Amino acid sequence: MSSKKLRWGVLSTANIGRAAVNPAIQASHNGELIAVASRQEETARAFAQQWDIPTYYGSYDALLDDEAIDAVYIPLPNSLHREWTIKAAEKGKHILCEKPLGLTAAECEAMQAAADAHDVRLMEAFMYRFHPQTETVLAMVRDGALGDLRMIQSAFTFRLAPPGNIRWKPEMGGGALMDVGCYCVNVSRTLVGEEPIEVQAFAQWGSSGVDAQMVGTLRFASGVLAQFDCSLTMERREAYVVAGTEAYLRVPAAFLPGTKDTVIHEHRGRQKTLQHTIPGKDEYRLMVEHFADSVLNDHPLRYTAAEAAQNMRVIEALYASARKGGQPVTV
Ligand SMILES: NC(=O)c1ccc[n+]([C@@H]2O[C@H](COP(=O)([O-])OP(=O)(O)OC[C@H]3O[C@@H](n4cnc5c(N)ncnc54)[C@H](OP(=O)(O)O)[C@@H]3O)[C@@H](O)[C@H]2O)c1
Repeated sequence: MSSKKLRWGVLSTANIGRAAVNPAIQASHNGELIAVASRQEETARAFAQQWDIPTYYGSYDALLDDEAIDAVYIPLPNSLHREWTIKAAEKGKHILCEKPLGLTAAECEAMQAAADAHDVRLMEAFMYRFHPQTETVLAMVRDGALGDLRMIQSAFTFRLAPPGNIRWKPEMGGGALMDVGCYCVNVSRTLVGEEPIEVQAFAQWGSSGVDAQMVGTLRFASGVLAQFDCSLTMERREAYVVAGTEAYLRVPAAFLPGTKDTVIHEHRGRQKTLQHTIPGKDEYRLMVEHFADSVLNDHPLRYTAAEAAQNMRVIEALYASARKGGQPVTV
């Protein structure tokens, strides 16, 4: 690496970039956001000016041709992740791509193959994994603080108003499971530390054809069961419970705790409840700093595209089950 800071470009003027990831890159100790691209040059120009980004481009290709850029952040609609990740890899850019990494496991594998072929790093932007709250829960589960793990219940729901939003569009990889249920699948697999062998799901389908609401179950070979619900039409709720033979944890601000302190509730026996306060952190900043550190100092990424492919394999099986009216599907 020719500089001590990773020089980032962002493909698009997406909301999540504007609201969370671009500012996290700008605040990071080992990165700088040097360019933004949009399909419209005027949109890119106005965005760059408003958010203090030095360079702008009127096409994504033009940004990828900029040799000053080391890495790109891709917050495009889900259906465009594969195409632009592969194009970025071909131009030698390291890639942090939004979740879900691809529309299918096969897409994720193709993206990883392109990254490997061009010797660049690729990671899916599941930011909650970098929050110390998630790390604390993981450590407690792995250290046996809950006894034997038995059950995980997770939820991620919110009300999505605008009818034109990409999440309502089947052709863009929309749907509740793709958008927020993917977190539930991810946290379940991460906490159990193995892959489910069978899944079952029921969905309510919206008028555009995407799942507006889903309830799913994951069955693991070790006997652990994980249940989740996700929705684009319900009051906001993002939380999980992880339960073992000796105790259970309740995590009420699971995926987007913000930068305020958060609390993990530990229940052990009828009377005993402990509260673990976790100091607030910007999980987006921790994620981009980890990614930049991996590139600049040749450290392995904590999460690979192969892991993202596993998440998609489970998501594909859940959709298959939901389309068959809840028939169990082997993963
Ligand atoms: N990790 C998180 O916390 C988090 C949160 C929200 C979303 N996300 C993920 O981030 C991605 C973007 O979500 P978002 O809500 O930020 O999306 P968004 O605001 O709708 O932005 C998507 C951007 O993609 C570009 N684009 C290119 N082709 C498009 C097309 N045919 N239709 C619409 N937009 C197109 C547009 O940028 P230009 O017009 O500038 O080219 C648009 O601004 C998704 O993969 C989503 O799952 C992650």
